[in-house]
Amino acid sequence: MALGRIPRFSPSFSPREALVAARYLLRDGPDTEMVERFEREFRSYIGASHAVMVPSARYGLYLLLEAMGIGEGDEVIVPALTYFAVPAMIPLLGARPVFADIGLTTHVLDPEAFEAAITPRTRAVVPTHLFGTPCDMDAIRDIARRHDIRVIEDCAQSTGARYRNVRVGNLGDAAYYTFGLTKNMTTLSGAMITTDAAAVAARIRGIIRAGGLTDKKKLAREALTGLAMFVATHPAVYWATVHPAVVVGNALGQDPIHDRFGEAEVRYDRLPAHYRSASQARGAQAAVGLRQLARLEQLNGARIRNGRRLDAGLAHVPGLTVPSYPDGAEPIYMSFVVHHPRRDALAAALRRRGVDTTVGYMSDLSSHPLFAEFAADCPNARRAFRELLHLPVHPNLRPRDLDHMIEATRRACLEIGA
Ligand SMILES: Cc1ncc(COP(=O)(O)O)c(C=O)c1O
Repeated sequence: MALGRIPRFSPSFSPREALVAARYLLRDGPDTEMVERFEREFRSYIGASHAVMVPSARYGLYLLLEAMGIGEGDEVIVPALTYFAVPAMIPLLGARPVFADIGLTTHVLDPEAFEAAITPRTRAVVPTHLFGTPCDMDAIRDIARRHDIRVIEDCAQSTGARYRNVRVGNLGDAAYYTFGLTKNMTTLSGAMITTDAAAVAARIRGIIRAGGLTDKKKLAREALTGLAMFVATHPAVYWATVHPAVVVGNALGQDPIHDRFGEAEVRYDRLPAHYRSASQARGAQAAVGLRQLARLEQLNGARIRNGRRLDAGLAHVPGLTVPSYPDGAEPIYMSFVVHHPRRDALAAALRRRGVDTTVGYMSDLSSHPLFAEFAADCPNARRAFRELLHLPVHPNLRPRDLDHMIEATRRACLEIGA
């Protein structure tokens, strides 16, 4: 990036894909054929028997639980560090989310904590491959099998990652993915479920097809936002415009990017009506998805190269804790998350050196007021939430950007001390 200014994020969405989206949005009709083609290509990429496009990952989870007959009085185990919308779905079915702790530096569900959280009412577990890191699926599947528990993989941050050479999403009873603008592949808005269970897929497909189409205006807005992100994070523009705005915003106690893309953490009493009423994907989403899928290995490959360079370069920085990965996990580095006891000071010191970072959007939900009635003791999630910081790892970084980041992080850690 010009003058060593490095954005925290840059989108996989390109102007060419914006043109594709525009062409399809100007047509009328549902374009089911294009959606089905994307579903077919996606399921064959993952290696699953069935794939159904759904409007969001959270609704995908809801539909999977419902189709598996999980509801009143049942318990579903979820990791304590995750996105609030995931456990928020579970009480809508009359079931109870049970929070289990994560590994402190893997950030994913700790198999021992999972096993300790099991009760006679446990029906499902949601191993979440957070930050692009696959969970310890051998251990999780073994425990789940012994206790007759369904495994629903959360692949929202890990499309394309592998575990022991098998793609995530292919390691349990079902899985869900999401393709918002900030994900490693995008359909502007929308998500997917995959499963080998024909009856589960057919039931979900029936519900989705009974709903209306995704709002065209919303998709047009997303395409414009994607284009704006593409321009704003371009090196020629970023250093002179966005970075100064982020620096000034943060000096005033605000993070303009986080504030713009964050979602209010709320819980509903019942499933919002629009989840069902605008559930069908449009051809525009599928057409963009097909192009993104064709580029996914290349995009993920760049993330993996960048992540490994950071792993090696930051391994021995005083005060800094780098991520670790379960045995057999082949992460795609959706995020590169370090810990520091003085996390906010580190973020400020990095910003002064031109490197933008973020605390991200995950929370420790085991101690979150929104889930007070489900509170649990998850010390690793509590600590990770306090100390974690996402460093840039997106595919558009060049080797010299990464070297600049590594050097900047070393100096920043020395400056702030432990
Ligand atoms: C780990 C994880 N699970 C689920 C979701 C929810 O996805 P959606 O917004 O499509 O419901 C997200 C969103 O970013 C996520 O990061």
